Amino acid sequence: MSVLVLNGPNLSRLGSREPDIYGTLSYVDLVKKVEQLANQFEIDCEVRQTDDEAELIGWLHEAVDEKQDVILNPAAFTHYSYAVRDAASLVTKGGNRLIEVHLSNPHAREEFRHTSVISGIATGVIAGFGINSYLAALRLLSA
Ligand code: DQA
Repeated sequence: MSVLVLNGPNLSRLGSREPDIYGTLSYVDLVKKVEQLANQFEIDCEVRQTDDEAELIGWLHEAVDEKQDVILNPAAFTHYSYAVRDAASLVTKGGNRLIEVHLSNPHAREEFRHTSVISGIATGVIAGFGINSYLAALRLLSA
């Protein structure tokens, strides 16, 4: 089984970015913990991050072509990118699963974060549990 874990803009700054909201775990640590659990479940897993919408869309196309499940933290793209939504939709329409994850609970934050243009095409959504949002998604995909 193969899973792509894709992260959108500014997530490379984890650890120093708004630690009161996102915690002090660095992006490198997040990658390590996700890879560790994936190893445990014998899941072939790759974790990537980009600030670039086009690159993220390219990776979603890759997941469609390779028939991979996806764990996606679209970061700020969550709230407005119809292009990311359309690409993510190809994953689920193609018969693979896509779990939208967030470290924070966007619904408990500013109004503009209450809208996700991604959730409507996702298999499921996990938000508000920090790194555990990713680990729970991985467990669900492995079950
Ligand atoms: C986020 C929530 C988004 O609103 C924000 O733009 C992010 C991170 C999260 O993981 O909590 O960059 O996706």
